Amino acid sequence: MICLGIESSCDETAVAIIKDGREVLANVVSTQIPIHKKFGGVVPEIASRKHLTNIAFVVREALDQAGLDFKDIDYIGVTYGPGLVGALLVGVAYAKSLAYALNIPIVPTHHIHGHIAANYLTYPELKPPFMSLVVSGGHTHLVYVKDYTDFEIIGKTRDDAVGEAFDKVARVLGLPYPGGPEVDKLAMQGEYTYKLPKTKFDNYDFSFSGIKTAVINIAHKEGDSLRKADIARSFEETVTDELISNTMLAMKELKIDKVVLAGGVSANKFLREKLQKAAKDRRYECYIPDFKYCTDNAAMIASAAHYNYLAGKYYKIEDKLDLNAIANLKIEE
Ligand code: KG4
Ligand code: ZN
Repeated sequence: MICLGIESSCDETAVAIIKDGREVLANVVSTQIPIHKKFGGVVPEIASRKHLTNIAFVVREALDQAGLDFKDIDYIGVTYGPGLVGALLVGVAYAKSLAYALNIPIVPTHHIHGHIAANYLTYPELKPPFMSLVVSGGHTHLVYVKDYTDFEIIGKTRDDAVGEAFDKVARVLGLPYPGGPEVDKLAMQGEYTYKLPKTKFDNYDFSFSGIKTAVINIAHKEGDSLRKADIARSFEETVTDELISNTMLAMKELKIDKVVLAGGVSANKFLREKLQKAAKDRRYECYIPDFKYCTDNAAMIASAAHYNYLAGKYYKIEDKLDLNAIANLKIEE
C-alpha cells in the first residue's frame, strides 16, 4: 500500500511517500527556518502563507522523487494536530481536496504519533509495546506505546516543553533560532560547572521552567563574564539527567524494557549518548531515530498513518467533509 503523507503543523512544509508503513520512497521537507529566523521564532501567519504557496510544489517533488503519479497513491495521511491551527489547516485542506479528487481514503494523523513512528523507519524490526520518551518543541511526555495505535501517558511536563526551554536558553545566550541545535554545538566546547536546580515529583512528571529561569538569571547577573559554553553544557547535562532518570525509573517500576526516543530534541547528541548508555547499563533495548527523521518530516506521518489505516482509522472524504485541524489534539485521542 502506498501512502502520501503531509505535514504542515509548524514551520516545515513536508510531503513523503511510503510503502507499507516502513519503506521511504520519497521524503521532501521544505523548511521555512531562514524566514522565521529574522523574527527569532515562528510567526504563525507567515507560516500558514508559506505552506499555502509551497504545498503543491512539495507534493510534485515527492511524486517525482518516488517516480510515481497521483494514480499510484492508495491513501493520504495528514497531520491534523497538534500545532499552529492556521498552518495545520493548509495541510488538512490540501489533503481533503486531493483525497476527493483521487477518490481515495484520508487518514487523519497525530503529529506526536508521527514522531514515535519515525523509529519504525529507522528500525524495520521495531514493534510495540515500548516506552517512548517524546521530546519536542511543544511536548515532553513519557508515553507507554501498548500497540501501534494505543497510547497511554505516563508522565508529562508541568510547564515548558524541553525544546521550548532549549530555544529560550539559546535566545538569552544570543544564539539564532532554532536554538536547540545551537546550544547542542556550544555545549560540546563547555564544562559542567554551573549548578542548576533539579526538579523531582512523586510521579513521572517533568519540569523545565526552573532550570530555564536559573540560566536566564545567571546570564543577566554575570553579563559579559558569563561562560557561555559552560552554561550551555550545564543546562544540557541537567536537563538530560532529569529526562533520563525519570524514564529509567518509570521503566523499572512499570517493568518495560524497551525505550524509544522521539521528537525534535532527539537530535541532541548528549541526550542520544546518555540515553543509550543508561539503557545499556540496565540491559534495556534502546531505539533512537535517524537524524533525518528527528525533526518534523512527513515520512514519520505517513508511517503512523499506515498503522491508523490498518486499524481502520480512515475515512472516505465524502463521509468526513468536516475533518478539521485541532490545535491541541491529545496524544491518547
Ligand atoms: O519535533 P520538532 O521538530 O517540532 C515540534 O514538534 O515541536 O522539534 C523542534 C524542537 C525545537 O525546540 C528545537 O530547538 C529542538 O527541537 N531541537 C533540538 C535539537 N535539534 C532540534 N534541541 C536540542 N538539541 C538539538 N540538537
Ligand atoms: Zn514535531
